[in-house]
Amino acid sequence: VPRSTWDAVRFRERVQDLIGDLVDANVIDPTGWNQRAWLTGLHEVPRHLFVPDRAWAQAFTTTGSDHAIDKATDPTGWWNAIYQNYSIITQRGDGTADPRDPAAPPSCSLSCPHISMAFLRLLDVRDHHRILEIGTGTGWTAAMLGWRVGDSRVSSIEVDKELAETARVNLAAVGHAPEVVTGDGADGLPHRAPFDRIHVTCGVRDIPQAWLKQVRPGGAIVAPYMPIAGAGGHQLHLDVVDEDHAVGRFAGASGFMMLRSQRAHMSTEDGEDPAELTVTRLDPRLIAEADGGAQLVIAAAAPGLVVDTGWEQHADGWSYVVQLASLDGRSWAKCLAPRGVDEYEVLQSGPRRLWDEAASAYRSWLLLGRPGRERFGLTLTASGQQIWLDSPGGLLGEGDRSSP
Ligand SMILES: C[S@@+](CC[C@H](N)C(=O)[O-])C[C@H]1O[C@@H](n2cnc3c(N)ncnc32)[C@H](O)[C@@H]1O
Repeated sequence: VPRSTWDAVRFRERVQDLIGDLVDANVIDPTGWNQRAWLTGLHEVPRHLFVPDRAWAQAFTTTGSDHAIDKATDPTGWWNAIYQNYSIITQRGDGTADPRDPAAPPSCSLSCPHISMAFLRLLDVRDHHRILEIGTGTGWTAAMLGWRVGDSRVSSIEVDKELAETARVNLAAVGHAPEVVTGDGADGLPHRAPFDRIHVTCGVRDIPQAWLKQVRPGGAIVAPYMPIAGAGGHQLHLDVVDEDHAVGRFAGASGFMMLRSQRAHMSTEDGEDPAELTVTRLDPRLIAEADGGAQLVIAAAAPGLVVDTGWEQHADGWSYVVQLASLDGRSWAKCLAPRGVDEYEVLQSGPRRLWDEAASAYRSWLLLGRPGRERFGLTLTASGQQIWLDSPGGLLGEGDRSSP
C-alpha cells in the first residue's frame, strides 16, 4: 500500500475526530452554514502539510503535556499532536534555535485548532471579502482564507523571510497561492486596501493606526489583544466605524506570540531611586493569575505592564514571587509570598508604584462584581485605545489609555 494512502487514512480519521471535538466544545456551531464552512475547510486544507517533520507540540489544556514531535521516529505521535489540541511550534529564537528546545522563546507556530478556529469564526467571513492576514506563519490560516474566499482576495504579511518562503511552499503543496508578502505587518498593505477584514495572528498591545485606515467602514479587525506582557490575551473583534474609529468587544482567551515590534521583556533599571518596602495582605497570585476581566481592568488602570512570576530561594525556604515592570524599565515592583505568612512584602521603585496601581485596579474589579471578559470592550481612535465596561466609554475612565 503506498504511503500516501496511509497518510490519507490517518488524515481522514483524525480530522473527523478533531471536528467532533470542535463541535462538542462549542468552538464551531455546525448548524450555521457560515461556521460549518470552516469544518469543511479542515478537510480541504490539511494541517499536517504545514508542519515540518520535527517540531514541538505545546498543549492547549492541562490534559496534554508539551513534547517534541518527530515524524521519522514516532509518526503516530506526530499525527496525533497535529490533529489534537496542540499548537505546533515550528520556529524559536527567530530561527536561531531548535524548535524542539523548550528553553528558547517560540517565534512561530501553527496555532492550536481550538484557538485558530475560534478566530476564524470571529472573523465572520463572507464570500466576497478581501482579507489581510498579519503573521503568515506556516501559511495554514492563509490557505483556509484562500479556500474560503479565493486566493486572489487574500494577502498575508510575514516579517520573517524564511518563514514567508516556507509558507509559500506549504501553500503550493495544498494548491493555494494567496499573496504572501515579506514585511512588517504593523504597516498593513496600503496598496491592496481597502480590506473587509484584517485577521491578526500575532499578539498586539497597541493596535497600529495603519490597520484602521486600511479597513473599509463596517469592516472588522480581529486580533489577539495582549495588553499585559507576560500575561494571557483576549480575542478582540473590532468593528471599524471610519478611518479614525473602531469599537469592539472581547470574546474568549487567547495567548499568541507578539508582533515583533511590540515584544517586551522584564527589564528593571538600577536607577537612583531606592526601593520602597511596604506590606500587603492581597495575595499576589491574584494579580499574577488574574481572571480575564480583572486583567482588562488592570490593563486599563496600569497601562504598559510587564508581569513575571516564579520562585526564589531564601534562608527560610522558597518564596513565590511576582514581579511587575513598566515597559520603559524605569519602574518595577516585586512581591514575595513565602509559605505561611499573613502579610506579603512589596518592594517598589521608580516613578510609578506599579504594585499599588495593579492592586488598586484588582480591588476595583472586585467592587464592580467581578465582571467577566465578555463584558469588556475597546475603542480605538486616532489618539489611542480605551478599554471600557459594558458600553463604549463605560466606567473604566477617561482619556487615552494606550501604552506610555
Ligand atoms: C502564531 S504565528 C501565525 C500562525 C499562522 N497564522 C499560521 O497559520 O501558521 C505568528 C506569526 O507572526 C509573525 N509576525 C510577528 N511579528 C510580525 C510582524 N510585525 N509582521 C508580520 N508578521 C509578524 C511571526 O513571525 C509568526 O510567524
